[in-house]
Amino acid sequence: MRLPVRSFFSYSPFCKMAKPRTINIGFIGLGIVGQGVWKHIQRNRAELEHRLGARLVLHSAAVRDPAKKRPVRISRSRLCSDPLAVATDPKLDIVCELMGGTTLAKKATLAALRCGKIVVSANKALLCQSGEKIFQAAKKGGGHFFFEASVAGGIPIIKVIREGLVANRFDLIYGILNGTCNYILTRMDCEGLTFDETIKEARRLGYVEADESLDLDGWDTAHKAVILGYLAHGKWVKLRQVPVEGIRRITLEDIGWARDLGYKIKLLGIVSRDAKNGKVFVRVQPTLISKTKILSHVDDVFNGISVTGDIVGTTVHIGRGAGQDATASAVISDITDAVSTLLGKTSPPPAEGDFGGKTSVIPGAELADLSDISGHYYIRLSVVDKPGVLAEVSAVMAKLGVSIASVIQPKATLGKKATLILTTHSSNEKIIQETCRNLKRLKSVLNAPFLLRIADFKD
Ligand code: NDP
Ligand code: HSE
Repeated sequence: MRLPVRSFFSYSPFCKMAKPRTINIGFIGLGIVGQGVWKHIQRNRAELEHRLGARLVLHSAAVRDPAKKRPVRISRSRLCSDPLAVATDPKLDIVCELMGGTTLAKKATLAALRCGKIVVSANKALLCQSGEKIFQAAKKGGGHFFFEASVAGGIPIIKVIREGLVANRFDLIYGILNGTCNYILTRMDCEGLTFDETIKEARRLGYVEADESLDLDGWDTAHKAVILGYLAHGKWVKLRQVPVEGIRRITLEDIGWARDLGYKIKLLGIVSRDAKNGKVFVRVQPTLISKTKILSHVDDVFNGISVTGDIVGTTVHIGRGAGQDATASAVISDITDAVSTLLGKTSPPPAEGDFGGKTSVIPGAELADLSDISGHYYIRLSVVDKPGVLAEVSAVMAKLGVSIASVIQPKATLGKKATLILTTHSSNEKIIQETCRNLKRLKSVLNAPFLLRIADFKD
């Protein structure tokens, strides 16, 4: 229900109170996300203040260029170019770090937390890199760090895991966590455009991060998967411990063959836990998902996450994973939690207290090794088309105990280059990588084999 602005005082608890508390909010960064937050708080202020029983003041902001023209109306006197000035301003109750990066943003975040402020952040790269330090600073300073917007934009996945599904242990969380890659793969699939054609369009629409590698090489997905891994298992997996692959080597032909086999290719962030030994594994891989799975139909810039808990079973969450409005929705949700915390009302459990500040308190939440991970695989080989090549290939695979499930060879001219698409029965990451290394050594194999995983998740 949208309350008319005039009804604010008649419905408000302010009628009975002498003076509602004023909450001053500062911004570090007023770009795409920052302006979205500013704009939507201004637009929905009456409802938000009514629900919270507090006055929200958009107090000040640090930007790189205060003279720049901005779509949101903000007086020049409220802008500065020093993030640390905002971070440590004693007048501010909440600081929104919406600048990005891991150097100045880290300094400002830690400075604000040391002053005991509540920091609201969308900065997945910083949280992935320095989560442990940030939570320690929050605990020590008496402030809090809220980060709903850091994973999957508008989907409230952090709340889902920390609050809605708190009763569960999570054996499997996997999802499409990067909107840009999903947009590219969707357009390649639906419109037959090449990777190069699609990336141009994604750049034109402003989807691609300034550092394109974050999106295309899987790092942004990895940052988000690491955060989900921490939420689910209380363990900050280091980025260097995460096998990360992006989408640059996927061809239109791979997408077509995957389709013929009954799959779609999606870039997935996967956090899995072996129920038997409790070992946790975080990885980022372009993956063939069966068309019967809901996530295979999550297209365009949308994100989708499947969360399997030992009590609830599987839940699936879909929504816009990026963009001004979806991300602002998540940031504002954190701001309202921050206000509730400041007012001493019911507030979410602080993330910095989730696991008592220890690296891992879940028994057995140790990291898995590659050899612990098994699955089915898709291998694309470029080979010379001559008698005996298929036999050589299958001999290499047989020697390592990899069983072939299917073979496709698009029609080729004898003596020229041919493509072989192999799928395997269940094997193991370490073995399959050794298989690829051995296949590459064959004279008849012309390029490094291209390996994709086939999702065999039960749910
Ligand atoms: P933008 O590049 O649009 O905005 C960055 C803002 O930070 C700008 O206002 C810029 O100032 C300011 N800024 C940059 N450097 C400095 C500096 N040295 N000193 C002071 N201010 C500075 O980024 P986004 O809004 O897209 O992203 C912000 C954060 O949100 C990032 O962490 C990003 O990863 C995250 N995020 C973004 C999403 C999206 O869809 N865009 C989705 C989910 C998370 P100026 O305006 O003067 O240039
Ligand atoms: N580049 C990111 C994406 C932004 O495409 O999903 C949202 O985190």
